[in-house]
Amino acid sequence: MNKLEVPGKFDRAARGYDLLVGLNPGYHQALRRSARALGLRPGMRVLDLGCGTGASTAALVAAVPGVEIVAVDASAGMIERARQKRWPSTVRFVHSRAEDVDEGEFDAVFAAYLVRNLPEPDGTLKRIRSFIKPGGTLVLHEYSVRDSLISTAVWTALCAFIVPAGWLVTGDRSLYTYLWRSVMDFDGASALRNRLRRNGFTGVRSAPLPGLQLGVVHTFRGHVPEQEQR
Ligand SMILES: C[S@@+](CC[C@H](N)C(=O)[O-])C[C@H]1O[C@@H](n2cnc3c(N)ncnc32)[C@H](O)[C@@H]1O
Repeated sequence: MNKLEVPGKFDRAARGYDLLVGLNPGYHQALRRSARALGLRPGMRVLDLGCGTGASTAALVAAVPGVEIVAVDASAGMIERARQKRWPSTVRFVHSRAEDVDEGEFDAVFAAYLVRNLPEPDGTLKRIRSFIKPGGTLVLHEYSVRDSLISTAVWTALCAFIVPAGWLVTGDRSLYTYLWRSVMDFDGASALRNRLRRNGFTGVRSAPLPGLQLGVVHTFRGHVPEQEQR
């Protein structure tokens, strides 16, 4: 499957998405942990890129009530599901590709399970950096297994459940086989940290998330330097 086709596949998967992620007991807790890594304070402006049905948006709301959140996704079906939920008045959903976002500057950007799906991750990371204010923060919450044979084996074992479950719930197997392969092909944690550095982020760190996804899902954080001239 071509990466340009991914949002369209999520349109079809949107109906079953919340049910499927709900089967992973640590899914929402892990998102909240990554959202806390943004170091948000009330009054900040945050972009949730690839917000899907709003699971990552909810993690941001839980991290600090009162932040302004612009939540963006390229799948009309996923955004539609997100909009059907109850949100504080400080949350707004926008149907757009990450590559085309034009919503002004942000104190922080959160992208959960997005970067691996981007056709041109370097170009899009540079663009994301351009709308983070000096001193601001990017957090990626992402699968990254290639640095470890054990993590690669755990991911493949998890997919022995995820692929049939996704197929059963949505009637389409292709998004879930793509999920397995895209994670197998994506950066290891050290490669993703280097990718952030070469696209201009400083103070780059990552940490594995605990639970069922230990060694499989990580939080990556980088900053835009405080004294940057624009
Ligand atoms: C696995 S879901 C994650 C949703 C949410 N962040 C969460 O944590 O549950 C990935 C989302 O990224 C979106 N996506 C994929 N490519 C995109 C792109 N180029 N621009 C914006 N969104 C994209 C998909 O439509 C999908 O909703």
